[in-house]
Amino acid sequence: MAEKSLWMRQVEAQPGHSAWYIQRFRDLAEQGQDLDGEARLVDAMVPRGSRVLDAGCGPGRVGAALADRGHTVVGVDVDPALIEAAEQDHPGPTWLVQDLAELDLPAAGVTEPFDALVCAGNVMTFVAPSTRRAVLTSLRAVLRPEGRAAIGFGAERGYPFDEFFADAEATGWSVDLRLSTWDLVGWTPESGFLVALLR
Ligand SMILES: C[S@@+](CC[C@H](N)C(=O)[O-])C[C@H]1O[C@@H](n2cnc3c(N)ncnc32)[C@H](O)[C@@H]1O
Repeated sequence: MAEKSLWMRQVEAQPGHSAWYIQRFRDLAEQGQDLDGEARLVDAMVPRGSRVLDAGCGPGRVGAALADRGHTVVGVDVDPALIEAAEQDHPGPTWLVQDLAELDLPAAGVTEPFDALVCAGNVMTFVAPSTRRAVLTSLRAVLRPEGRAAIGFGAERGYPFDEFFADAEATGWSVDLRLSTWDLVGWTPESGFLVALLR
């Protein structure tokens, strides 16, 4: 069995954590904040009506915005409370409780490969460090051969960018583009955030 994700450890230590996170994004949506930046980038990467996996989807913010743009979306998250919120707030996409380190979409009836996947909101820094390569391997396996990934996370969160690039290469990914924001600002090793576009 895979080591427990850091997110679920935080939930165990702080039982209100998931509810706080759900409410935070409900409040931001209520205030009319722009919560679609990641979805806009991914939408630009794929043809109309693509199949997109939202990996570590949380309460479904990014996947829902992609579904609104006409894509077929499957969202996967290890936290059942967040998946329940995704189902309530964003009916339409398929929302699944699974650990990305042990991803088994066929077990949930999802057998077609994806054109793209998005992994937004620091997900890669919340998976258990010992599972990072397993997660990257699982994600690569669910894409069609020309499929692409957009993975974003911040510096100073325990996963140095150099290690991420080494893990990505070791698991068969190649890096197409390194950005420092979801609105396409270029990346440098000093950037505080990374959005890696992989194939
Ligand atoms: C900060 S939230 C981001 C949620 C969503 N991507 C967003 O941007 O709104 C981090 C998410 O990563 C998920 N996560 C962490 N480790 C995971 C794992 N091993 N498998 C699936 N989801 C995981 C958490 O449950 C949590 O929903």
